[in-house]
Amino acid sequence: MWNPGWDDVFRTKQWGAYPPEELVRFVGRNFFAAEDRSAVRFLEIGCGPGANLVFLAQEGFSATGLDGSKIALEQAAARLKDLRLSAQLDQGDAMALPYAEAAFDCVIDVECAYANTFADSRRILSEAHRVLKPGGLLFSKAFMTGTSGEATGRRLDGENNTYLEMPDGPFNMGYGIIRLTAEEEIPVLYGDFAERSVDFVIRSDRNRSVEVREWIVIGRKSAGR
Ligand SMILES: C[S@@+](CC[C@H](N)C(=O)[O-])C[C@H]1O[C@@H](n2cnc3c(N)ncnc32)[C@H](O)[C@@H]1O
Repeated sequence: MWNPGWDDVFRTKQWGAYPPEELVRFVGRNFFAAEDRSAVRFLEIGCGPGANLVFLAQEGFSATGLDGSKIALEQAAARLKDLRLSAQLDQGDAMALPYAEAAFDCVIDVECAYANTFADSRRILSEAHRVLKPGGLLFSKAFMTGTSGEATGRRLDGENNTYLEMPDGPFNMGYGIIRLTAEEEIPVLYGDFAERSVDFVIRSDRNRSVEVREWIVIGRKSAGR
């Protein structure tokens, strides 16, 4: 469930304006060859201030972004307007996507589901599956267990690998849930996607004082559903 703490984050912090390299590679490999890019429909859940939407719109794709944060969406709208680009922006909760079944060719989750409990994340990823066309692709980037800060993090009762704050980790503070994904949780979280590929990115930051670990899960909705 979206947490209003995100509004405070976007009100007080300048957010990154560029897409992650893994997303650029994924979109390039799977969609750059499309005959008519404007006919390829992307949805980004938890689009924040729009870094990934700007990239998609710049590349000529049809982009829709959903976020719970009005402030983030206002920032995304301003950025798109400055660059004379367009994308549909909707305020809502990724747990109940306001889109028809089979509406999108690709759903992107760049660190949205991780900010939700396990049960809520499961629901978000099921919703992503529902709105994908048969054969459509999910790109999901999600923080992994082992990311710095677990030892001193304030745990959320009743949940594995889930924290309310991780002051010694690479995360912003005060927006609610930080859920790290363990490898054995991937088949459950992404269970709707029978065809999956799983990679990871591990890097250090701040002069090696923290380690950031992320899964890159790519799922395909089966052609028959
Ligand atoms: C870590 S930020 C990532 C923003 C963006 N994807 C990017 O790469 O710059 C997480 C975003 O997901 C949004 N979010 C988290 N849970 C959500 C939910 N259940 N419904 C809608 N938005 C959500 C937050 O408001 C925030 O904008």
